[in-house]
Amino acid sequence: MYVRLMANFKGTDLDVHPLCLGGNVFGWTADKPTSFAVLDAYAAAGGNFVDTADMYSAWVPGHQGGESETIIGEWIAARGNRADIVIATKAGKDEPMDEPHVRAKAEASLRRLQSDYIDLYYVHYDDENVPLEETLGVFDALVREGKIRHIALSNYSPPRLVEAMAVAKREGFAKPAAFQPHYNLVERGVFEDELQGIAQREEIGVVPYWALASGFLTGKYRSDGPAVDSARSETAAKYLDDRGRAVLSALDQVAAEHDTTVAAIALAWLAAQPTIVAPIASARTVEQLAGLLPMAEVELTDDQLKVLDEASAGS
Ligand SMILES: NC(=O)c1ccc[n+]([C@@H]2O[C@H](COP(=O)([O-])OP(=O)(O)OC[C@H]3O[C@@H](n4cnc5c(N)ncnc54)[C@H](OP(=O)(O)O)[C@@H]3O)[C@@H](O)[C@H]2O)c1
Repeated sequence: MYVRLMANFKGTDLDVHPLCLGGNVFGWTADKPTSFAVLDAYAAAGGNFVDTADMYSAWVPGHQGGESETIIGEWIAARGNRADIVIATKAGKDEPMDEPHVRAKAEASLRRLQSDYIDLYYVHYDDENVPLEETLGVFDALVREGKIRHIALSNYSPPRLVEAMAVAKREGFAKPAAFQPHYNLVERGVFEDELQGIAQREEIGVVPYWALASGFLTGKYRSDGPAVDSARSETAAKYLDDRGRAVLSALDQVAAEHDTTVAAIALAWLAAQPTIVAPIASARTVEQLAGLLPMAEVELTDDQLKVLDEASAGS
């Protein structure tokens, strides 16, 4: 049987499972016991790469942000597995990305994660009001202090990504190791038009988010299907247009050929694209996770990649 190997961020010692587990559900659509169960099931399947952010789940009434990090920190403390898990978290987005704010944010994340280091620390959103030298400079200082192992960037525009990489090089800062863009089978252009080429040239590993288009690419949103009970249904259902239906039909065909889930094929397609280290997807139950993990056992043929490429072209 084919099994996708652990993936590596070039130039680093970070070896990660080919599916990065999205953490925005923890404390939002998954309560603490369910979050622990999802994390346990992911680790039992060999998973070691968990993505979160200091702002998750601030949009929930009564929450402040940090709930997801707190749950992950409690899970790691309970399981005693800190050394086995690669934790990615992010600093952003409502406060300036200047030195005092970034330092305060990093310390708060470390406290919630109950750890003295973060493996991959992202600038969540580019802050054009603070010089890149300052933002990347404080991230670099945190690397030298041992508080973060690697710097990463998310949601940068193509010119700003180029500029950030140039600043890091010119200033002698630690090289950003990862980039996190919005990218999936129904949202291709924003990444493929320019960012993919930049990532390739800069040798920066890509970790795409919304890999399932908020659940649309699991195949549970269909024109003739039942209404979906999900906090994400409004975002996901908007993809149900002609192209979305064509993508689902291609996914159905390829999933049948592999005797696996539609979601596993959508994730395997992403994993097969140039520069991708591991797609990020979340699961709010152990059952949902079981539908995602088979992505590690799917190797798409050239013909299958073509079917999926053609159905999703122009998105
Ligand atoms: N850098 C950034 O700016 C940024 C932005 C957004 C997200 N992210 C990261 O990316 C991660 C993934 O994004 P996301 O969680 O919003 O979206 P997603 O991975 O595209 O969709 C995940 C959602 O799909 C549904 N689902 C998953 N498996 C399923 C299955 N087997 N059957 C049916 N439904 C299933 C679940 O939602 P329901 O059950 O509610 O339908 C699940 O929460 C986040 O957790 C976060 O870590 C980063």
